[in-house]
Amino acid sequence: MSTFWSTWVVVLTVGNIVACLWLIRWTMKKRSNEAATGDVTGHTWDEDLQEYNNPLPRWWLWLFYLTLAFAVIYLALYPGLGNYQGLFGWSSHGSQYTQEMQAAEAKYGPIYRQYASVSVDDLASKPEYAEARAMGERLFLTYCMQCHGSDARGSSGFPNLADKDWLWGGSADQITASIANGRQAMMPAHGHLDAASIDNLVAYVRSLSDPVTDSAGQSAGRQIFVTAGCVGCHGLDAKGNVLLGAPNLTDNTWLYGGSAATIRETITKGRHGIMPAHQELLGQDKVHLLAAYVASLSR
Ligand code: HEC
Ligand code: HEC
Repeated sequence: MSTFWSTWVVVLTVGNIVACLWLIRWTMKKRSNEAATGDVTGHTWDEDLQEYNNPLPRWWLWLFYLTLAFAVIYLALYPGLGNYQGLFGWSSHGSQYTQEMQAAEAKYGPIYRQYASVSVDDLASKPEYAEARAMGERLFLTYCMQCHGSDARGSSGFPNLADKDWLWGGSADQITASIANGRQAMMPAHGHLDAASIDNLVAYVRSLSDPVTDSAGQSAGRQIFVTAGCVGCHGLDAKGNVLLGAPNLTDNTWLYGGSAATIRETITKGRHGIMPAHQELLGQDKVHLLAAYVASLSR
């Protein structure tokens, strides 16, 4: 933290404590000058319910002083005042955190490591590795469920990992890379196209997976699909490209949705799905087990 921000925090914190102390003293003084015990304020509710103006009970007052004293002692012993380290020199990162992480690594590390030399494909399919897949599933429920769902079937914007349809590829290496390094999809916005072109594109994209839609715009849409550069990522056959995470538009699996309105939104505003990288957070061994679990879902 820079000296400026450190000072800022110190002034604010100390100022607050002093202000609290002053507030308590001030209200006490005022009370004892103005009002003797038993005075009423003149506020009345429900005909006869009156508000008294009694001083705070002693024990309550002492509680306030106690919390202030606690704050002062705590701030003297532990870090809290800007860059001041505290008399104990305690640090969440330096000592305790590292120690706890090392202890956890010593205890659980070998359990995750025992499968490191078995291939993802074997772990995903062979019956004797059911326990490894179960471990992968437990990790999934901790780290991945909030986005991909507890059954890994995803939701709008978050891909289903249990089907055979892959944005970035379904081989062991591709799945491992998705989890370890993350993925960033770039579908550019095409709001600059005129309304008719977008109408035609929507009609064309829908016709790719739904042969029943029969609209005049389809063949014009096909033209624009080529000239506007959609083919550059989705391919001439619109079957997508796993190197770019560009989805296959000819199947009936949708990441964002296949209704005319959703496709229109995708085209005009663009889409930027982000899969966060997990290598640093979880380490190689856990990523390996997760990849095996994910691969097992669709095999
Ligand atoms: C630079 C590469 C690129 C270009 C150009 C591009 N797309 Fe995309 N498109 C993508 C990517 C990547 C995604 C996936 C976005 C995500 O995962 O967030 C995508 C997603 C989509 C989707 C959503 C599919 C779903 O399953 O919900 C549609 C529809 C689509 N594109 C149509 C088009 C059309 C039409 C054009 C031309 C106007 C176009 N794209 C141009 C890369 C591209
Ligand atoms: C913050 C939300 C989020 C979390 C947490 C998350 N993911 Fe993802 N994941 C995504 C999104 C969004 C995509 C799709 C990116 C795109 O649009 O291309 C994705 C894509 C993937 C893919 C590629 C799918 C494909 O079709 O190619 C895999 C595999 C995957 N995630 C596995 C995992 C695993 C395993 C975890 C837990 C360690 C995890 N994800 C955690 C959001 C998340």
